[in-house]
Amino acid sequence: MVEIVPSILSADFARLAEETARVERGGAKILHLDVMDGHFVPNLTIGPPVVASLRKATQAHLDVHLMIENPDRYGAQFAAAGADSVSVHYEACPHLDGTLELIRKAGAMAGVVLNPMTPLSVLEDALGVADYVLLMSVNPGFGGQKLIPYVLDKVRKLARMRRDKKLTFPIEIDGGVNLENLADVVGAGCDWIVTGSAIFHSRDPEATVREMREIAARSAAVRF
Ligand code: DX5
Ligand code: ZN
Repeated sequence: MVEIVPSILSADFARLAEETARVERGGAKILHLDVMDGHFVPNLTIGPPVVASLRKATQAHLDVHLMIENPDRYGAQFAAAGADSVSVHYEACPHLDGTLELIRKAGAMAGVVLNPMTPLSVLEDALGVADYVLLMSVNPGFGGQKLIPYVLDKVRKLARMRRDKKLTFPIEIDGGVNLENLADVVGAGCDWIVTGSAIFHSRDPEATVREMREIAARSAAVRF
């Protein structure tokens, strides 16, 4: 099932519960929460207390994307705060296998994220180890950037690797997805499609999620 995953980075942080309720009315089942530390990326966002508060406000799957140095220190805290999935950057994890295990032990799905220029080959021999793979389609740090087109080739290649190895993990994409490129993104093989500004900066976020879900379902039906 292809899911449209709204990123709250572009929502109004003073009205988070209202903003998430709106996109859930549009059909969103997963919400994406970007955690930035001002070191791994040049921006600062939220910590575990915000995840814990949102946990009380919604039944949706909370998908936390850690753009931080030293995720070993914080990954489990986000799971304990109520995240259903927590992803860490390959580029920030010298002991990736152990980092994923810490998150899983704390009760969340553990995902690995690759920056646009990080090749898929780093995952080749351990593809089944992560519960899901997030491919960045922008350089991480800010919402509202343009999707980097070569990442769609990476998605197609990862979907092929997954099929060849008879695995079923979700492929997530993050950055620059909008109503115009959504059909191509789904066609390439993505399952969890993160989109922030295209939803929360639209006139009617609820209707935008609904429209995106329709496009995604249509494009997924013809992709294989
Ligand atoms: C960027 C973040 C994204 C961001 C995407 O570093 O990881 O999740 O919210 O925003 P848009 O959809 O506006 O590119
Ligand atoms: Zn993200």
